[in-house]
Amino acid sequence: MSKKSLLAVLAILCGLGLMLSLSAPAYGQAKAKDTIILKGAPMGGVKFEHKLHTERAANKCEVCHHASKPEKASTQPQQACTECHTKTATAPMKTNTVGAFHKNATATAGNCIDCHKAENAKGKKAPVKCMECHKKENT
Ligand code: HEC
Ligand code: HEC
Ligand code: HEC
Ligand code: HEC
Repeated sequence: MSKKSLLAVLAILCGLGLMLSLSAPAYGQAKAKDTIILKGAPMGGVKFEHKLHTERAANKCEVCHHASKPEKASTQPQQACTECHTKTATAPMKTNTVGAFHKNATATAGNCIDCHKAENAKGKKAPVKCMECHKKENT
């Protein structure tokens, strides 16, 4: 290869590298563990199968991870719910931990439970009772 064409190849490679670094998101993308133990409820932690659930949600992350909202903007596309939805919500946040996972204290609705009910109507066995999700052995 001539010196000139070698320089041309190098120039192209540098260009590609720059393009790649520019197209990468401004924030680092964390990767979720296959199984996440969500602790905090006095009645016991919840063993959440993240990998299985991503498949159950047909790979649509937004089924659970909502888009950034103005009251408290996201720092990465999929972030731990509990970073924003704390035990007691402080203004401008309104939705506490219970509210984020199941709308109310009786856990009759919400993202997790709505899908479980729908799946159970189709013959699946997804947990809907408190102690089917909250287990002392998970804490
Ligand atoms: C069925 C609901 C559901 C779906 C679908 C889902 N996630 Fe999650 N994800 C969660 C929950 C719940 C957590 C744990 C939140 C916490 O710790 O507060 C989590 C945690 C994460 C975390 C770890 C965040 C951190 O900083 O600890 C990442 C990264 C993540 N998810 C990425 C994804 C991606 C990418 C997809 C789609 C391919 C996806 N998730 C689909 C429910 C879901
Ligand atoms: C970066 C911060 C942030 C993260 C992370 C986050 N949320 Fe939210 N969420 C908000 C804000 C802001 C609101 C609107 C104000 C409020 O309701 O407190 C909201 C509202 C909600 C609501 C009530 C409104 C509605 O859409 O029905 C639910 C339920 C909810 N989030 C669930 C979740 C779940 C589940 C996760 C994790 C998979 C999560 N959130 C992660 C900031 C966040
Ligand atoms: C897209 C629908 C869907 C959503 C959303 C969903 N689940 Fe599930 N989940 C299922 C199905 C389906 C099963 C049962 C699968 C089976 O046994 O065949 C299940 C099972 C479970 C189980 C039993 C262990 C296991 O994974 O098999 C737990 C615990 C659980 N879900 C917790 C949660 C929590 C917590 C959330 C909300 C953060 C959630 N799920 C959201 C569909 C969903
Ligand atoms: C589908 C699974 C599921 C069911 C069913 C369920 N929960 Fe939860 N619950 C969760 C998850 C996930 C969290 C968030 C993790 C945590 O805080 O332990 C949570 C959080 C909570 C919290 C808040 C703990 C905190 O950190 O502030 C309370 C209290 C609670 N649940 C009570 C209940 C009660 C009472 C029932 C039944 C009436 C119930 N849950 C049914 C999954 C479930």
